Amino acid sequence: MQDIIDSLFITLKAIVLIIISTVRNLVPTGILPRKDVRGQTVLITGAGSGLGRLMAYEFGKLGARLVLWDINEPGNEETLAELARSGVEAKAYTLDLSDYNQINHTADLVKKDVGKVDILINNAGIVTGKKLLQCPDELMVKTMAVNTNALFFTTKNFLPAMLESNRGHIVTIASMAGKIGVTGLVDYCASKHGAVGFNDSLAAELYAQKKDVKTTVVCPIYINTGMFDGIQTDWPTLLPIMEPEYVVECIMEAVLTDRAFVSIPKFTYLFMALTGLIPTEVTQMYGEYFGISTSMDHFKGRQPQKA
Ligand SMILES: NC(=O)c1ccc[n+]([C@@H]2O[C@H](COP(=O)([O-])OP(=O)(O)OC[C@H]3O[C@@H](n4cnc5c(N)ncnc54)[C@H](O)[C@@H]3O)[C@@H](O)[C@H]2O)c1
Ligand SMILES: *[C@@H]1O[C@H](CO)[C@@H](O)[C@H](O)[C@H]1NC(C)=O
Ligand SMILES: *[C@@H]1O[C@H](CO)[C@@H](O)[C@H](O)[C@H]1NC(C)=O
Repeated sequence: MQDIIDSLFITLKAIVLIIISTVRNLVPTGILPRKDVRGQTVLITGAGSGLGRLMAYEFGKLGARLVLWDINEPGNEETLAELARSGVEAKAYTLDLSDYNQINHTADLVKKDVGKVDILINNAGIVTGKKLLQCPDELMVKTMAVNTNALFFTTKNFLPAMLESNRGHIVTIASMAGKIGVTGLVDYCASKHGAVGFNDSLAAELYAQKKDVKTTVVCPIYINTGMFDGIQTDWPTLLPIMEPEYVVECIMEAVLTDRAFVSIPKFTYLFMALTGLIPTEVTQMYGEYFGISTSMDHFKGRQPQKA
């Protein structure tokens, strides 16, 4: 009897949670109450350009203190200078995230310089953009190191203090490539699936420990930051190449309202719900029809002068 009551209770609770989460997903940006990040320390990897830089500006506007990590020193210094101009407290560090010794060393410096990190945003990422047989071995290894392995090592350094104070947030910028496979992105897709798996396990571990440390994973499609220069889709209205400002607005909303998962644009939720049900032949057929399988054919990637 008790078992039946327990099962009923948990099912009821599940239904309520599903309704709450659906409503939260549908509410327009800016309506849900946002958490206060004034005086908190936000560490962003890959802050020297693209999404990382824009997120730094947004957190700066909200009164957070920024810690900027990037391999691109001039780019990172530019982000730092812009923050300084608007009176935001920030510090920049140069490191290569594909080397865990450098991650540990830089993390030690950060702990000494600014102390505890409240929000860790794993954002840095690279892409090779070549089909499996053309993809140089060392670039594939590097992609995994930066896009997946670095998540282990940054988090290992900053999670303990979050657990101790029972407050914190780990954000992973993954990609729709962490949910689907795309031609010409073998190493990238594998690495982003790794990032998505990392999020799921980490969230499960935190849930089991009943700790109030939040996780958010972000899965956008193509964004116009330069990283994917040259890509094309046959159906730009359905599969637009998004502006980074829009994507960052969605990320800020997700982080500040403690959402576990955000996929951008919104129609991708429907797509993900369906992929579990549709046979592979059909997804591949649609991938071809919508030009997803050829989207990488004219890929150039980030040009050095645009660093
Ligand atoms: N641009 C897109 O279409 C797109 C789509 C989905 C997801 N994403 C993801 O969003 C994140 C941000 O990408 P972006 O579009 O702003 O690209 P970006 O190239 O503008 O920014 C990435 C940053 O990471 C830094 N970085 C790269 N390798 C590094 C290393 N070894 N050590 C330290 N820093 C390193 C780069 O210097 C750069 O500043 C990435 O994780 C990317 O995979 C991008
Ligand atoms: C890096 O730091 C983490 C966290 O302190 C630690 O668990 C790991 O052993 C360190 N790795 C190396 C190679 O020093
Ligand atoms: C990240 O983990 C949380 C908790 O398990 C989950 O709700 C969310 O859907 C995960 N994100 C992805 C992209 O799988």
